[in-house]
Amino acid sequence: MTKNAIILGTGSYLPENCVSNDDLSKRVDTSDEWIFTRSGIRNRHIASDDQATSDLALNAANKALNAAGVNADDLGGIIVATTTPDLTFPSTAAILQEKLGVTSQCMAFDVQAVCSGFVYALATANGFFKSGMSKPVLVIGAEKMSSILDWNDRTTCVLFGDGAGAVVLGASDDTNTGIISTHLHADGRHAEMLCTNGGASSNKQVGALTMQGKEVFKFAVAAMASAVVEALEENDMTPADIDWLVPHQANIRIIEATAKKLNMPMDQVVTTLENQGNTSAASIPLALDHAISNGDIKRGQTLLLEAMGGGFTWGSALIRY
Ligand code: UT7
Repeated sequence: MTKNAIILGTGSYLPENCVSNDDLSKRVDTSDEWIFTRSGIRNRHIASDDQATSDLALNAANKALNAAGVNADDLGGIIVATTTPDLTFPSTAAILQEKLGVTSQCMAFDVQAVCSGFVYALATANGFFKSGMSKPVLVIGAEKMSSILDWNDRTTCVLFGDGAGAVVLGASDDTNTGIISTHLHADGRHAEMLCTNGGASSNKQVGALTMQGKEVFKFAVAAMASAVVEALEENDMTPADIDWLVPHQANIRIIEATAKKLNMPMDQVVTTLENQGNTSAASIPLALDHAISNGDIKRGQTLLLEAMGGGFTWGSALIRY
């Protein structure tokens, strides 16, 4: 029987090491003023050498399971959205399953849609509930972006950070709550604008992130705006029906443009990038957990999640929390 996926609990984790713009200006030719005015970022957290993406995910997962009151062994599945997996294989989700001590043999797999990964993973999980999944599913966005940055490239290394955010979804018969809709898009014609210059089957390297910032910026503003409009139109809603916009955290100017499109004041927009940078697939669940933990997002409120990233990929999830 069709179920709706509801959020039972959230959790997040940021590595201890917080690196400021001033710290970076000792490494590359940049300044706090340039980074902050162009992006809205002041600090980012960087994982230690011995922390893999699954370790970041583990911390967030344990908090989310705790908040949800769910035992890891009772999960029906683990989905990790990441573009920085521990290994080429097995999946980070399978590695995480072992770290969580899960013995139930529930499904575990990764989703790769770069910065849109968490929205893609939520949509995937929602599909399982729509087709009858009754057990909770752990959905995580986790990234060690620092491992694919060229630390001599000032145009990219100042923008990204590491972290993980997790939600535990549960099954509900109430179709008026939980994930109301998801919309996913991709356009692979723009792949080279935001990519790594390495991969297992091309040059056997992990590669480093490269980005044509200005072009990505323009596409992101348009894609984020079209994603929110699509979500509202498909649900016969207006911006007034949305309590919180929870956008991917890449650049405050992109976020502000999307809020403007919705005519939504910035105090209804969750922003965490000032102290986290762009954590790719982790940014939305990190923002979600931040706003739920500090009491801003309350039960019953309507949330619009939206993301855009490499691929290009973009999409939205409309959730009644
Ligand atoms: O998460 C996936 C989606 N990603 C995004 O959405 C990111 C989208 N792009 C952006 O956020 C912005 O394009 C950036 C923040 C990356 C760049 O901002 P911009 O206003 O587009 O700057 P720009 O690339 O046009 O660079 C302007 C100048 C250049 O110098 P010239 O050629 O004008 O002399 C750059 O060389 O700023 C220079 N520059 C820097 N200067 C100091 C580039 N990076 C830096 C830096 N510090 N870190």
